[in-house]
This record gives sequence, C-alpha cells and structure tokens, in this order.
Amino acid sequence: MTTSLTQVMPTWLARIEDRLAHWLPPQKRYNATFHEAMRYSTLDGGKRIRPLLIYATGTATGQNLDELDGPACAVEMIHVYSLIHDDLPCMDDDDLRRGKPTCHKAFGEATAVLAGDALQALAFKILATDPAMTSDPAIRLNMIATIATAAGYQGMAGGQAIDLNSVGKKLSLIELEEMHIYKTGELIRAAVNMAASNRADLPPEQAQGLNHYAECIGLAFQIRDDILDIEGDTETLGKQSGADQALGKPTFPDIIGLKESKIRLRELHQQALTALESFDDKADTLRDIANYIVDRVR
Ligand code: IPE
Ligand code: IPE
Ligand code: MG
Ligand code: MG
Ligand code: MG
Repeated sequence: MTTSLTQVMPTWLARIEDRLAHWLPPQKRYNATFHEAMRYSTLDGGKRIRPLLIYATGTATGQNLDELDGPACAVEMIHVYSLIHDDLPCMDDDDLRRGKPTCHKAFGEATAVLAGDALQALAFKILATDPAMTSDPAIRLNMIATIATAAGYQGMAGGQAIDLNSVGKKLSLIELEEMHIYKTGELIRAAVNMAASNRADLPPEQAQGLNHYAECIGLAFQIRDDILDIEGDTETLGKQSGADQALGKPTFPDIIGLKESKIRLRELHQQALTALESFDDKADTLRDIANYIVDRVR
C-alpha cells in the first residue's frame, strides 16, 4: 500500500506533538517559567522533519510506530536545543524562530541556555526509560550511542564550532560540505538510522540504503536552508532571511554560487531516491520527504 506524506502528515504531526507534550515538564508547578521556556521552544512549531523521518523509516521497514515515539521525541528535543543555542547572541544572534521571538528574547539568555541543556538531557532520559520502546537493551543502547555521536563533537556541536570559526573566511567546498554534514546532516542521519536499527532483522543492504539516503538528504537539507536564507522571506520562513550574509557565514551559495548550489541539491535528491531503489512502496513516504526537502519554502 502506498503511504504518501500528505496522507500521513496530519496524523504524524499530531502524534509527535502529543508525545512531546507528554515528556516535557508540566506548566503549573515549581519552576514554572523554566518549564514554560522548554515548552515554548519545543511545542507548536517547526516542520518536525526528523520525527517524520523516524516514522517514515519505521513504515518503510514494516515496524510498529509505538516503539519509535521515544526516538522521535529524543531527536526533536536535541534539534530544538540546538536551535535555542544557535539563536543566542554569542552564536547567530537571532530574534525570530518558528514565527515567534527566540527563546532568549522571550525568557532571557540564562534561561535559554538552561532550557537547551535540559532538553538535551531529557532526550537521553527518554531513550533510556521510555517503556513503549524496544525491549532489547542492546538496541536501546545503540540508539543512545547513535544520537550522542550525532549531537556531539563529531556531529552538531562540532559542526557549529566550525561554523562559528569560519565566519568571514572562504572555506573550500570540501570543508564547507564537512561543516554542513556535521552541523545538520548527522542528526538527520541519526534519525533514520535509529529507526532502522529498531528492526534487528533488517537486511544489511537495506540498512545501508537507508543510511545513504539519509546522508544525501541531510546535506541537501542544509544546502536548501542556505538557499532559503537568500530566496526565502522572513514571514514564510518564520526566521530572519538574509541572516547568513549579514553575519558573513560560509554557505553553499556563498562558496559555489546559487546556480551551482541548486545543481548540487538536485544531484543529492537523485542519489537519495536511488538509494531507496530496493524498497517497495512502503518507502514512498521517505521518497516524498526527499522531494519535500529539496523544494521546501520554509
Ligand atoms: C533549522 O532546522 C536549522 C537547520 C538545521 C538547518 P529546521 O529547518 O528543521 O527547523 P524547524 O524545526 O522546522 O524549525
Ligand atoms: C543551524 O544552522 C544548524 C544547527 C545545528 C542549529 P543555521 O544557523 O543555518 O540554522 P538557522 O538558519 O538559524 O535555522
Ligand atoms: Mg547557525
Ligand atoms: Mg542560525
Ligand atoms: Mg540557516
């Protein structure tokens, strides 16, 4: 049966919203403002690409999605934490995120730093304790290692460090790709691989195909983000357009030009689809997500 993204999107978006709200700290308790900051940045916003990828990979590999809610929440929380810190004055200094004031604008810098810290910790708590997840401790541990690697020095945090160090410098194309793969690609790849690893009997060729698909769309996602910083408008994006150029950030359009960036985007899109060739129509949602990533306007 074909499972198109448009068909499943409303259900999956409601599902992730519900699960995130369940794990986040309650509003009306001790330390309410801090809890509110965590909820404010996590709930009711964002495209939820990483959770959607987890559910789509689960569908492509014939899994029960209940086991994947935990990993979906964990990857979104790591992502939200990275956005909160990315927006801080010491990093990109942005005022607008997901169509509303950034966390530090709404709650102050110290609270924003701590809300990010707490979201990262909560992601790991979910992976360690969610009762609906796999009963196999080896799979659980493998997921924890996968996301830890993708969030740390060999992933998001490492990529962000390169990004900040590269302001005003001309990176080579290889250096730029590496930075993008680290800061954005690795977490996207972790989402797909965590979901794939939940099926212990997945044939290795299929696991490799999914990993390659994820590598391609992960890099494509950040190239599209760079293009949208130039071509998108602030209202649709929900974040300030033109921010990269204003800060002298190394981006794909900056290094190879807009036209070449779009060509590279199309190549990666094609490679992502090719990587899924051995999959049947249960992988159509993954194919739709690849299409969505290269054409998205927000
Ligand atoms: C923005 O990520 C930061 C990047 C890694 C490019 P998204 O474009 O996924 O942001 P949301 O979650 O939809 O707000
Ligand atoms: C951010 O890259 C990547 C992260 C790890 C958060 P950007 O700085 O380009 O993300 P936006 O454009 O602010 O969303
Ligand atoms: Mg940044
Ligand atoms: Mg930024
Ligand atoms: Mg950007």
